[in-house]
Amino acid sequence: MLETLNAQPADALLALIKLHNADPRPTKIDLGVGVYRTGDGDTPVFGAIKAAEQILLDTQNSKAYLGPEGDMGFVHALIPYVFGSDFDRSRVEGMQAPGGTGAVRLAVEVAARAGAKRILMGTPSWPNHAQIVSAVGLELKTFKHMTAEGTADLEALRAALADAAPGDVVLLHGCCHNPTGVDYTNAQWDEIAQMVAASGVLPLIDLAYQGLGDGMEADAYGLRKVLAAVPEALVAYSCDKNFGLYRDRVGAFYAVTSDADALAKAMANGATIARASWSMPPDHGAAAVRLILGDSALTAQWINELTAMRARMAEVRERLAAAQQIGPINMAPLGSQKGLFSMLPLSGEQIMALRERHGVYMAGSGRVNIAGLTTGNIEAFVAALKDVAG
Ligand code: PLP
Ligand code: LMR
Repeated sequence: MLETLNAQPADALLALIKLHNADPRPTKIDLGVGVYRTGDGDTPVFGAIKAAEQILLDTQNSKAYLGPEGDMGFVHALIPYVFGSDFDRSRVEGMQAPGGTGAVRLAVEVAARAGAKRILMGTPSWPNHAQIVSAVGLELKTFKHMTAEGTADLEALRAALADAAPGDVVLLHGCCHNPTGVDYTNAQWDEIAQMVAASGVLPLIDLAYQGLGDGMEADAYGLRKVLAAVPEALVAYSCDKNFGLYRDRVGAFYAVTSDADALAKAMANGATIARASWSMPPDHGAAAVRLILGDSALTAQWINELTAMRARMAEVRERLAAAQQIGPINMAPLGSQKGLFSMLPLSGEQIMALRERHGVYMAGSGRVNIAGLTTGNIEAFVAALKDVAG
């Protein structure tokens, strides 16, 4: 039977991890998968996480099952950070999920069970978004995320919403847009909140990089604006970047409603989907986050570590922007883009030449993880770009 399966291409981005690992050149540069790296090229475990893990080691006396919703102490501890300390807690409930990916999957499946037919989404986007929408069996309607000038394309979103039908969901990146680094401005979010409310579509906000843009509060601006304007919304959250937990798979799915019965049903459906998919989410990383957020000293340590990450990314962006113009590539916008990613307008041949001649690994889309540039190799990267595109 299994021979009847269709062949599947390997996930291009994950394949890049292996290609980079297999390259023996010591000067190779990994700008592929979205993990933060220090100026020395490391992705260390946060000190706050190490401290929380020590507490877990010393005090956790059971690993008995918790349930499909996971660690509700974790889920609730995040609420003030995501939704704001003054958010009406009766409107929101959540459950833990295996990473932001599990949270997006739950959100899309719950929307489908509620009758959603179509997801409206700006492109380019994180490639897994389209895969999840397709796996759940919903239709995807795309619009342009970015203008030719490299700003967020509000008019394209406006047109998509004007054209929306009942049963549509709009998927928005809360901050640090993947793959472009081009976020909506606060003034644009003000308009988006009104546009989404007027359209009646259900917003699904994916917040996978809170704190990696301008800070924990600043990066929640758009989400909070939209949630203040609409009766219902879904949120997919990841702690894998802002707590450096990646492989521990730490995320949360939230529903916001104006109706307690609808909220309970959203959670009950999420729990049913989780039960049939992974039964219960992995506990360890979420328990560590709960301990951090419940302890003011650990919270301060975590915020300091996150602030240092942001400062380093700002420095890398400043140095890249200082290259100004490389052939047809305008480097200046990289200075003000947000988060781990930016896109360079490179051809497939140029991306292959960067890999083969210079050991520079980046996604086929031209997306670069700017945190992959170390203190020692930014100049080499700029020189490699000049070689292939200058
Ligand atoms: N959403 C977006 C926009 C992402 O870029 C990612 C990638 O990490 C995720 C969700 C999923 O994150 P996680 O690794 O927590 O599953
Ligand atoms: C990325 O886009 O590199 C990250 O979000 C990791 C992933 O799961 O794709």
